[in-house]
Order: sequence, then C-alpha cells, then structure tokens
Amino acid sequence: MTVSPPRSGDVRALLTVTEPGHVADEELLALGTGRVARTALGELLHRARLSDLAGTRVTVEFRWGCGTEEVVLCLVVESGKAEIAEHPREAPGAIVTQRLAEVVLALYGPADPVPAATRELHWPGAELLRPGAARGTEFAIVHRLLAALDRRDRPGLAELAVRHGSDKWGPHQYTRHYERHFAPLRDRRLTVLEVGIGGYGDPAEGGASLRMWRDYFPRAEVYGVDLWDKSALDGPRLTTVRADQSDRASLSAVAERHGPFDIVIDDGSHVSALTLATFEALFPHVRAGGLYAIEDVQTSYWPVFGGNGTDLADPGTTMGFAKDLLDGLNHTELLDSHGRAPRPTDAELAGIHFYRNLIVLEKGVNTGQSPIADELNARLRRSGS
Ligand SMILES: C[S@@+](CC[C@H](N)C(=O)[O-])C[C@H]1O[C@@H](n2cnc3c(N)ncnc32)[C@H](O)[C@@H]1O
Repeated sequence: MTVSPPRSGDVRALLTVTEPGHVADEELLALGTGRVARTALGELLHRARLSDLAGTRVTVEFRWGCGTEEVVLCLVVESGKAEIAEHPREAPGAIVTQRLAEVVLALYGPADPVPAATRELHWPGAELLRPGAARGTEFAIVHRLLAALDRRDRPGLAELAVRHGSDKWGPHQYTRHYERHFAPLRDRRLTVLEVGIGGYGDPAEGGASLRMWRDYFPRAEVYGVDLWDKSALDGPRLTTVRADQSDRASLSAVAERHGPFDIVIDDGSHVSALTLATFEALFPHVRAGGLYAIEDVQTSYWPVFGGNGTDLADPGTTMGFAKDLLDGLNHTELLDSHGRAPRPTDAELAGIHFYRNLIVLEKGVNTGQSPIADELNARLRRSGS
C-alpha cells in the first residue's frame, strides 16, 4: 500500500513533542508509531529531494523501533520518483535501523546535533563483495537521505529561491539581506506569515517563496495570505489563507487564528495604503524579538501604486511612513518642540533596517531614555516655549 502525504496536525504534534530537545518513546506510542513514522518519512523524503537522481529502481527499508514495537516502511525510488510503501515488494538494497525517537528529534527537534547513535546501516547483497559492483545510485540515494536526516544538507536562501523559482533572488537581491536576519532563527520553532503568495488569479500558480521559507526553516509552520484561493499549495508545514490585505478585520482574524508570528513578510499588493493598513493589523501580532519585512517599497515613489511622485516624506507612502518610524525609534529623546505625533508602535519598534526596495523592522521593547531629553523638555516647559 502506498502511503498518503503527512497531515499538518501530525506534523504539528511532532514539532510540539520535540520542543524540549528530547523525546520519550511513550510520547510517540501515544501518538501512534505508524502515523509518526509515516509523517517522519514523508518529511525526510521531501527534504532529501531525490528527484534529480536518475537510475535504476532502488528500495530502502527503514526499521524504526519504539518501545517494543518496530515500524517497517519502504521507500521505493525509480528514475527520480519516490513513494513510501508499508510492505516491501522486493528485497531492499539498503536497510536503515534506528530508534524512532532519534529520527523524530533529528527531523523536528532543536538545532543541537542528534548523534544518530542508534543507527545501523545494512547493505544486503553478496555482489557488494565483488569488485566493480555498480550500486552507485543506491549509495547516492541513501547518502542523500541520511544527509537530510542529519541536517548536513543545508541550502541557503539564495539556493532555495532559485530552486523554487522565487524572485527574491535574481531580479531582487532580498535573500542576502534576509539571510543576515533569518540565519540566527533558522532552527527555531517559528511561525512565518507572508502576505502575497504569487500567481495572482491562477489557483495552481504561486507559492515559490512559501516553499523557500518552509525549506529554509525546518521547524517552521509557514502561512501565506492571498486575495485568491491558493489551497492547492497546502501541505505539511505550509498553509494558505484567502484574505484581502485591504481588509484589516480579515487580517486580524488570520492573526488571531494562526499567530502570533515570528516573521511577517509583506509581498502583496505593494499599494502604500494597503501596506500601511497591513502593518497596523499584523505588527501587533508579531512576537517580541520577531521581524516584519516590507518588500518593493520603491512603489512609494510611483503614483500608480498610491505612491507620491513629488513629496518624499509623504506619510501616506510606505517610505514616508518608515522615515517617520525612524524618528519614532528615538521617540523618548524627542523634544516637545518637535511636535511629532507619537505612534502606537514607537515603544515596541527596536530596530529598522533599510535596503534597496526592502525594509526589515525588528520588534522589541523600546522605552529607554537618556536623562538629557527629560531635562531639556522640562526647561522648554518652564520657559513656556
Ligand atoms: C508579487 S506576488 C507574491 C510573490 C510571492 N511572495 C513570491 O515571492 O513568490 C503578489 C501576490 O499578492 C497578491 N495580492 C495582490 N493584492 C492583494 C491583496 N489586496 N490582498 C492579498 N493579496 C494580494 C496577488 O494575488 C499575488 O499573488
């Protein structure tokens, strides 16, 4: 019997169970070892990307022990296509035995290396003993699977953007900036939301960057919002939601249901008014220490996107708004005479990074003050000016 793809609920259960950095057999027995093993092998298969390995049919058998139980699953790979089967149809080329808890921790647990101390690898077949035996494809497949399981196969964001066809590398050079901000978060348990899935009205198109985030962050649950139905893209750790970013109530509802978020990326309409409304709706749902990115902010200068062709400081444009947030970073140091209206986000915006066409905002506590501003304001008030 061929095994169907893993379900999001099962994946979430495994992400939760591995959170403390260790897993007890009893926890996996309670979840159901068969389900756990199928989910884990589905994830491993996805991460190993065997599709570019052409060659003869190879069967790899996984025997994963848990308590006194042993789950046996087979991976059948032929010409780059792979399927998981519950019952071996033929003698396997390789047999990998390991404790299920170790496999689950290696796939879904925190970043600390999992030593694979319980793993054994067998290569049945006497021809191995003969010189010149041609089992290269088999070796390559098993090597790729184990590298993925041990997190030794770690493509960067630029490579993943190219692999999935995202323009975040190429026309834009966002991936190198994102890598700087996201690399320290890579192995954390994260919730990531991107507004704008891509493909516009075509239900089967888009999702390039959602797939890139999913593959970059192995422990993240990734959500995408789009004006159009993109549910065809849904899968383990990737969920799409239909919502209009001009409708704050719908965005808040998405955030209530799936947030709080560690990372939000706005790559939707790029219409300034909608970008600002989205920031107001979603920034409150970003965790302290989290990041909020706004892409394609050059549209601030283009009237056709609701930008301003003459006034660079127009607070109704994304760049004008962000420039005011810059002063907000120092909100406790401003003098009364500056007359700047405080923003609700001032006290929780800890950093702003500007790049060409891209802004990355850091959420954090921003309430500190130097004593001088206080004193200068007191003097201003005394002098009545
Ligand atoms: C540039 S594409 C996103 C590309 C994708 N993030 C990527 O990097 O692969 C913009 C997407 O935003 C969506 N969009 C446009 N206006 C929107 C709105 N008002 N609300 C939600 N999504 C919108 C479009 O349907 C389109 O799919």
